[in-house]
Amino acid sequence: MADRFKIRSTVKCDVLIIGAGGAGLRCAAEILERRPGARIIALTKVSHPQKSHTATAQGGLAAVDPRDPNDANIFHMFDTWKGSDCTADQNVVRKICESAWEQIIWLENRGMHFSRDPQGKLSKRTFGGHTRNFGEASAFRAVFEADRTGKGIMDTGWGECLKRGIHFIHQTVAVELLIEDRHCAGCIAFQQKNGTFVQILAKATVFASGGSGQVFKVTTNCRQNTGDGLALVMEAGLPVMDPEAVQFHPTGIVGPGILASETLRSVGGILRNKDEEPFMAKYAPKMKELAPRDLVARAIESEIREGRGVMNPDHQIQHVWIDLRHLPAEVHERQIPEVVSFFKHYVNLDPRTQLCPVRPSNHYHMGGIPTNEFGEVQDAGQQIVDGLYAVGECAAASFHGFNRLGTNSILELITMGKHIGDRIIERLERESSVRSDIAPCRFQEKFAGYFAAGGADHIGQIRNILRAVMTEKVSVFRTEAGILEAIETLRELDERARKTKLTQQSTAMNQELVQRWELDNLLAVSMAICQAALHRKESRGAHFRDDFPTRNDAFQYHTLVSTTDEFGKVELGRREVDMTIFGAKGENYEKFGLIERKY
Ligand code: FUM
Repeated sequence: MADRFKIRSTVKCDVLIIGAGGAGLRCAAEILERRPGARIIALTKVSHPQKSHTATAQGGLAAVDPRDPNDANIFHMFDTWKGSDCTADQNVVRKICESAWEQIIWLENRGMHFSRDPQGKLSKRTFGGHTRNFGEASAFRAVFEADRTGKGIMDTGWGECLKRGIHFIHQTVAVELLIEDRHCAGCIAFQQKNGTFVQILAKATVFASGGSGQVFKVTTNCRQNTGDGLALVMEAGLPVMDPEAVQFHPTGIVGPGILASETLRSVGGILRNKDEEPFMAKYAPKMKELAPRDLVARAIESEIREGRGVMNPDHQIQHVWIDLRHLPAEVHERQIPEVVSFFKHYVNLDPRTQLCPVRPSNHYHMGGIPTNEFGEVQDAGQQIVDGLYAVGECAAASFHGFNRLGTNSILELITMGKHIGDRIIERLERESSVRSDIAPCRFQEKFAGYFAAGGADHIGQIRNILRAVMTEKVSVFRTEAGILEAIETLRELDERARKTKLTQQSTAMNQELVQRWELDNLLAVSMAICQAALHRKESRGAHFRDDFPTRNDAFQYHTLVSTTDEFGKVELGRREVDMTIFGAKGENYEKFGLIERKY
């Protein structure tokens, strides 16, 4: 094996966190606060933790204020269950909703600048699918920092971790997990700057590596969200759960696809078609613009499919409008200043006087690395992998089931980050040493293969084709024929990728090498999405099959997808949905059965 693929050094720590976004930082902060002196290493793929995707979150985080006479945790739990199309795990739903407000206080006490009302209390806004009294009226339970809540979360988490002595390693990715007999001892990491491989051994390893939005051509996700965590666990022989559950945010800004927050609809924005008619009442008579995202995204795509979209001359993309012209200047200036500036900056439109073009854009992966309610990663037989945890968008506990409600993701990463921190603290009390007897077995061959390949293909072109086919065939509306076409294309692209020569031979500062590795991850995650989507012959939450347009409760389970040595051949399994709230038969338990989903 060439010298450049040798492991240069070994580092030992108590906790290794793969990813330094909101989830990883919240977990680290909990451990450092309660176990001062714990040695925590956080790898970040980007040049600085503040460049993590969490920083782009806009709308807020849902949490029921215990002093609010109009709201209650049980309503939040019900909304989350209904929003998930009966596939969220109820033990996780209960745990997160019941600990939500405590985490708002945690953030507030550590300096987060939540927006406040004229009385000085935390301001609250409503989001799609958030109701009180089990659907009676909109609930105002999302707290926020204007329309840049994610930046506030990052500032707070980053500050806490720095203050207490975290060790960040920048521009570094995990390329192989050290796993044997259901025990994880850390990972092999690749440092992009100097092109070297390092072994990091830890008593606990936490995946907090974010989402996989780059699978799609139009996405609100950052450039770094290439599903690396999911690909890595699959490579280690572990499954991913519900990969077919992919969220498309109704309002991406046409062109860049970046997020135009649901806040726009929360403050009264109206969706209009090419005739400038509001259309949401047709699709969700009661909740209209404030129906959950999957419904609104399908409504917009239906308007476009039926000829009521508008063609954007610059991007040649059909879209609908969001109308914000009637909103008071104070709302533009104080509640949505960031999004207003995006429209001005990216499409040269002033939302105060002009209609703004929007279309669904890939936003969030409900599926991910399967964990239990403590964030412990499970294998295909639902046995815990000792020492391995996952949190945030890369994980599926599952709080969101097949459709996530707006503002429930930041809530999840903050609460689960804390709960996993608790679990790891217990572990650190038991474990006195790190294991150093698990050897890596894949990364060297893989990286050597990248450099050994010949052929004149181009990684960027292959990635573009992958993203285009996933957007055309496996997005808001899916069919068997379309999914099969995508699978065939992915097989061809995998073949092409294997034959693509790298033009630069150095491992240091070689972006082409990183992109080649990312391409493998995108291929693996796309294939898992396609195979699970093909198998699920029903429509549930954000997974909508034109050829099976209704929910079929024979499919009321989580899909587990494990890869095999042959690209495209997968093994499918299932995990039952936890229905312990329903099963406990307490007050209002019937709301947590297999309920109809109308808004
Ligand atoms: O629309 C938004 O502001 C996004 C919020 C979320 O994804 O939770």
